[in-house]
Amino acid sequence: MGTRGFGGGAMRAARGTVYLVGAGPGDPELITVRGLRLLRAADVVIYDRLVSKGLLAEAKAGAELIHAGKKPGRRVHVQPLIHDWMIDRARRGKVVVRLKGGDPFVFGRGGEEVNACVAAGVPCVVVPGVSSAISAPAAAGIAVTMREVSRSFAVVTAHSDGRGAGPDWRALASIDTVVVMMGRSVLAETARRLMDAGRAGDTPAACISNATTPRERTVVATLATIAEAADRAGLKAPVVTIVGETVGQCPNPVGAPVVGGVARLGAAQDTPSCLGISIGPSGRVGHEAASTPD
Ligand SMILES: C[S@@+](CC[C@H](N)C(=O)[O-])C[C@H]1O[C@@H](n2cnc3c(N)ncnc32)[C@H](O)[C@@H]1O
Repeated sequence: MGTRGFGGGAMRAARGTVYLVGAGPGDPELITVRGLRLLRAADVVIYDRLVSKGLLAEAKAGAELIHAGKKPGRRVHVQPLIHDWMIDRARRGKVVVRLKGGDPFVFGRGGEEVNACVAAGVPCVVVPGVSSAISAPAAAGIAVTMREVSRSFAVVTAHSDGRGAGPDWRALASIDTVVVMMGRSVLAETARRLMDAGRAGDTPAACISNATTPRERTVVATLATIAEAADRAGLKAPVVTIVGETVGQCPNPVGAPVVGGVARLGAAQDTPSCLGISIGPSGRVGHEAASTPD
């Protein structure tokens, strides 16, 4: 590939190299310019389950596409197999793109994949991506930081590591904004742990599912009610949950009846369920019904 970058620099995809490319959160347009160039130049694309089909369509004709998807709770492919594919193809002189959802280094096992390449003596380049940790809330109109509301945020997985060590909930309870990944199936437990650690039950909270895709849905509630609200709305993974006063700054929907927003939190019949978000012609932000329910 011999294209020119926005900065004027030439960029070339090297043969026998593995590129760990962040695909972004879901919308194919949210990959980086560099990531897209490499994807188009790749001989082999090894892609994750959450990578959009629209992006795969950008691969060149004849490129080998390998699905490395791992469904939550199911080990369809084990990590060593992915390492073998990357290393084997690179050693055969191919341009290999390992296309990973969001950013490769945010709960993406990117570090392990870099280490596997280094150990095998295979050149490996990381191309950062737009992580759902920040872009999912952003798509729903929720800023992770906001002056005078949130000066700190933490991104955490709800799951413990292989040795049973979970997050330090007490430390997290004192962070202004907490973003929880991979947490749909343990949402109630996560909320309870944060409250047990001292976070107030009336802290605003939101779940954003399938962010930046046509199936995006957002549920707004409080920490005490978010799990029930998500269940009532039938919200399915992938979900990013965000807890903190910044959720309360989410602009009210424009036009359609208000179904989200912290003013109506808590009451079961008011389970807020903002479905998607749109920017109106006026530039104002409003929620709209998702085209496809989960
Ligand atoms: C294995 S982690 C990978 C995270 C990815 N590396 C990133 O930076 O976004 C998968 C988790 O990311 C979150 N996620 C990824 N894409 C999402 C999306 N479009 N909408 C909501 N959450 C998403 C969910 O919490 C999901 O369980």
